[in-house]
Amino acid sequence: MAQRVNNEEEQRRLSHEALWRRFDAMELRLTAAVSERMLELANLAPGMRVLDLATGRGEPAIRAAHCVGETGHVLGIDLSEELLDMARARAAAEGLSNVELRAANAEKLESLPPGSFDAVTARWGLMYMTDPVLALTGARWALSPAGALVAAFHAEPERVAFYSLPARLLARVHDVPAVEYGVPGMFRYANLESIEADFAKAGLAVDHVEEIETVVFESTEDEDLLAWIRALGKQPFGLADLSEAKQRSWEAELLAETRPARPGEPRRLGGVTRIIRARPGG
Ligand SMILES: C[S@@+](CC[C@H](N)C(=O)[O-])C[C@H]1O[C@@H](n2cnc3c(N)ncnc32)[C@H](O)[C@@H]1O
Repeated sequence: MAQRVNNEEEQRRLSHEALWRRFDAMELRLTAAVSERMLELANLAPGMRVLDLATGRGEPAIRAAHCVGETGHVLGIDLSEELLDMARARAAAEGLSNVELRAANAEKLESLPPGSFDAVTARWGLMYMTDPVLALTGARWALSPAGALVAAFHAEPERVAFYSLPARLLARVHDVPAVEYGVPGMFRYANLESIEADFAKAGLAVDHVEEIETVVFESTEDEDLLAWIRALGKQPFGLADLSEAKQRSWEAELLAETRPARPGEPRRLGGVTRIIRARPGG
């Protein structure tokens, strides 16, 4: 039995990894503007030390490493060795020797020397953590007094079309689970008040907020769109409970609703991201 469970877990891990690899280049390209804006707001300069929480495939850690140059240093941490391996391969391909990609829990940063980073970043990461206030408290500890934390979050579900469109179409044939705000997930920090409140608990004062709208998916292949949304939707949409027939009709509607204006153009999906900068204090 234990063997079967392990095999199932392994299967799940492999299929997730295959999806990350399949869409990696597309996602990196389309979401670059979010990382670049985060690094501008962090005011990076050569020689600086940067900590990137929940770096995944190395965003924005790897871009930060280019900004701080050989005299600077970037530490990117994530729970997932599989994603970190992809980040390490990318760092090597880009000739970087000033970035360390380490498997670690962002909720346990107390072993880092206090005040040892000029900037902390977290792109689409804090909302998935079990206890993000612990991570924020650790980030505050690791930040130098003049440093800044820059983080990116999805905005309210209705402004995140790559979530709200499939959810709205699914709601015609199925009970879509309501979005849960107080628990780990895409929309935990969908409203600004909850961000400011948790940052304040960690001794961080928000001094800048802005929004950026980005396309996060594009492809001319129907199958790509369906695979990408299914990967996203496994948890939030409760697809497992839907009959085969209903799944097929939902897919047909998704394809119809995302049909490009001109034949041959890609289908695109995007959403609004809120970028926050905070500083020790408050
Ligand atoms: C949506 S991905 C974002 C990855 C990357 N920052 C990006 O923008 O492409 C969320 C990441 O959070 C990581 N994560 C979740 N909880 C974490 C924790 N407690 N410590 C470190 N990483 C965590 C996951 O492993 C995952 O890689």
